[in-house]
Amino acid sequence: MNGFDEISAPLRTIMTPGPVEVDPRVLRAMSTPILGQFDPAFTQMMNETMDMLRQVFQTKNQWAFPIDGTSRAGIEAVMCSVIEPGDKVLIPIFGRFGHLLTEIAERSGAEIYTIECEWGKVFDQQEIIDEVKKVQPKVLAIVHGETSTGCMQPLDKIGPACRELDVLSIVDAVATLGGTEVKVDEWQLDAVIGGSQKCLSVPSGMAPITYNERVERLLFTRKKVERGVAQAHDQVKVNHPIRSNYFDLSQLQDYWGPRRLNHHTEATSMLYALREGLRIVLQEGLKERFERHRLHEKSLTAGIQAMGLQYNDVLWKLPMVTCITIPAGIDGDSVRKMLLEQFGIEIASSFGPLHGKIWRIGTMGYSCRKENVLFVLSALEAVLIRHGASIQIGHALQAALNVYEAYV
Ligand SMILES: Cc1ncc(COP(=O)(O)O)c(C=O)c1O
Repeated sequence: MNGFDEISAPLRTIMTPGPVEVDPRVLRAMSTPILGQFDPAFTQMMNETMDMLRQVFQTKNQWAFPIDGTSRAGIEAVMCSVIEPGDKVLIPIFGRFGHLLTEIAERSGAEIYTIECEWGKVFDQQEIIDEVKKVQPKVLAIVHGETSTGCMQPLDKIGPACRELDVLSIVDAVATLGGTEVKVDEWQLDAVIGGSQKCLSVPSGMAPITYNERVERLLFTRKKVERGVAQAHDQVKVNHPIRSNYFDLSQLQDYWGPRRLNHHTEATSMLYALREGLRIVLQEGLKERFERHRLHEKSLTAGIQAMGLQYNDVLWKLPMVTCITIPAGIDGDSVRKMLLEQFGIEIASSFGPLHGKIWRIGTMGYSCRKENVLFVLSALEAVLIRHGASIQIGHALQAALNVYEAYV
């Protein structure tokens, strides 16, 4: 023995806004033996995954495939493939991940324009449309579900307005895909990035994306095939080639498409995981899955309210993230620590101006279950009593159970 023990991860109840608990079926799929990436048995799985992604993104786009890497890899792949140095990019910011879009666009050489609203709020869609008209950017990049603040930005009018104004829309739907409506075609969104470790309940490490022909046409103007695999008909000289090789969507679509151009070595076990995660989503049904997320959110918030705590009870609340105001005089980190140590439950804190002010409880994917909601409410009540918080005792679970009883 070399002194290192076999992995023994404690079993947790993960109620954060991601990563969340992984469905056991996904874990089983991940232990499937490895295949070569051009083995027909594997390429068939790639095609099936693309098919299922189209359904989950509610799109007829040809291109829907995962980028290997965490969700920001998906964002970075889209941005660095679409944005050429000097392009105007408008980013409305309403939390941490709007800043991330800005950061990534900046590194792609964009001329950045931002508008910001207070964390905890979202924009009126017309305000964004007016700004698009004013700035006339090439790209509007925006977050759909802002996990840092628990807010969801409506997009149904922004997408069509961008289309009319010939602006490309790029949307971070990392937190929302598979948990609530993300209507790529109906909202006329040009490129959308999802997350694996959130409502899809797959481990972090792959980022599903989709984009339409408007994006594809642009990629074609920047396409440069890697020297070692290029053929005579491939362009080798272009004005503004995509700067990243790894995140070059023009080459990646040739890898995922019929050409099967050799690019990176596919993360086969992650692909098994994503494929199974998507199969579970479609077996459950999109409508049913979104309804399940709403039901457990309703039960959780009923319990939180019955305990006498405040939460983000706003029209634009993100259904899968509940932000609870930490009561005055209570040490938020100490409460989280006790939840983890005594109950094995993980909830999250937040960032920036909300750090130390709120806890965030996620109800996403496989973690979004009745027993988890009841467990987190009972444990939170017990921990808050230990911390001397002034709360209503004995009401939270009854309120949550009432919601479940009314549902059947
Ligand atoms: C809305 C949103 N966008 C982007 C990201 C970045 O994802 P990752 O950490 O997987 O790169 C996150 C992660 O929490 C997120 O919640």
